[in-house]
Amino acid sequence: MKEVDLVIRGARVVSPEQIIDASVAIAGEHIVAVGHDDTMPPAREEMRADGLYLLPGAIDSHVHFRDPGYAHKETWRTGSAAAAMGGVTTVFEMPNTHPATGTVEALRLKQKAAEASYCDFGLHGLLGDDTVDRLEELLDAGVTSFKAFVGNTFGNLPAPTDGALLEGFETLAPLGIRTVVHAENSSILFRRQQKLKDAGRIDALAHLAARPAVAEIEAIGRVLTLAEWTGARVHIAHHSAADSLFLLREAKRRGVDVTAETCPQYLLLNTDHMLKLGGIMRLNPPIREARHNLPLWEALMDGTLDMIATDHAPHAPEEKTRESIWDCDCGFPGVETQMPLMLTEVNRGRASLMDYVRWSAVAPAKAWGLYGTKGVIAPGAHADIAIVDMERAGVLSQNRLQSISKISPWNGRPVKGYPLHTLLRGRFVMREGRLVNEAVGWGRSVKPVQKMPAARPRNTEHYSSAILQTPAGVPRTAVPQGEVDWSQA
Ligand code: DOR
Ligand code: ZN
Repeated sequence: MKEVDLVIRGARVVSPEQIIDASVAIAGEHIVAVGHDDTMPPAREEMRADGLYLLPGAIDSHVHFRDPGYAHKETWRTGSAAAAMGGVTTVFEMPNTHPATGTVEALRLKQKAAEASYCDFGLHGLLGDDTVDRLEELLDAGVTSFKAFVGNTFGNLPAPTDGALLEGFETLAPLGIRTVVHAENSSILFRRQQKLKDAGRIDALAHLAARPAVAEIEAIGRVLTLAEWTGARVHIAHHSAADSLFLLREAKRRGVDVTAETCPQYLLLNTDHMLKLGGIMRLNPPIREARHNLPLWEALMDGTLDMIATDHAPHAPEEKTRESIWDCDCGFPGVETQMPLMLTEVNRGRASLMDYVRWSAVAPAKAWGLYGTKGVIAPGAHADIAIVDMERAGVLSQNRLQSISKISPWNGRPVKGYPLHTLLRGRFVMREGRLVNEAVGWGRSVKPVQKMPAARPRNTEHYSSAILQTPAGVPRTAVPQGEVDWSQA
């Protein structure tokens, strides 16, 4: 048998269907064998993993690494180091940088910044009124997918008009490309926020008052209508409200290709925490009342929500701790803490490790066209593996985060279940709980291995290029032709 680079022995390998005792052989960037210890090829390096679990590296569909434009909040180097330390091997990064990722020039700046990445990545391009005519150009230049900020948030990018959103979906439906939507209704948010400001409210809960669940329900409903009409694939970002889950359930039943994420903060935090932590917890959509927590868990369990993402949204501590809630930047870091937080819930019996792997790796791999290459521990796949100790207990500490944004609502939270080692395409990016500094830049774009399955476009034949021509057989002007027979009218 040919010698391989690494054999991991005596572990338990997790997939959504089963947990098996197995060893794993890795050659170069790929897994080449998964099976009984005795069947493993000779290896340059052997690693014992008795009692540990091997999970497909987590794929986080939603991070903000801030570069270009806001490098004081995060850089690709620090954000992706946080990912590596959190067992996350692939991230999809958001376009609300400066400049926003809506032109090829801006994309080039981001691709340059991402050369420092410790993890593999996809880049969401911006879908807005100004960019909707450039979507194919952006795809050719390397974006994997798009993001539409239907709800206003950090970066203040104008929400696409419904007309532009429809047009974008008409373009993307035949290509099978999925669009992430920040689904909140911006006009509701702006009006409410102004009223609350005028009334002098600056407390933390005013943020929630400005962004009621109905803003999310309305926007999700609207987006799903356009997605269903065109057959475009959509992905609902950071689903936060119990009240909008029925829309996802019904759309999925009707065959709309919608995927949806929620984040640990919507599952585990609520307004009780916000009363204590204030602006640190400000984010969009807001963290809501406790009544939302359990229905979101149930929706993950029954598949209404497909996956866990983090909305890793770092800001400098001083930008998070201002007197008025309106002056606190929205978001907080999360890519590094997701896995310990969720494994803790697994240890508490709220879900199985198999469920977790479905949410953290399999579902995102499928949504973004990576499944088979990523999201699975099997021969032929990238060797992207989080090696996890379910018995290790500790306390999350914001000071120890790799992120520049050393401020987190999870600070001081006890957890049980940690990634110990992270492998990205066969190479350790975290080992024994430490970042492997030399692996900087090992991350690369997933675009070359992305394969979106064919979509089923509908009602896209009226898209601009077709409607800009007067159809054959139709008079060129609207002037009545010949003698009008009014008796026929
Ligand atoms: O709270 C948020 N912060 N929500 C978002 O949607 C964007 C993010 C950011 O970029 O800071
Ligand atoms: Zn976000």
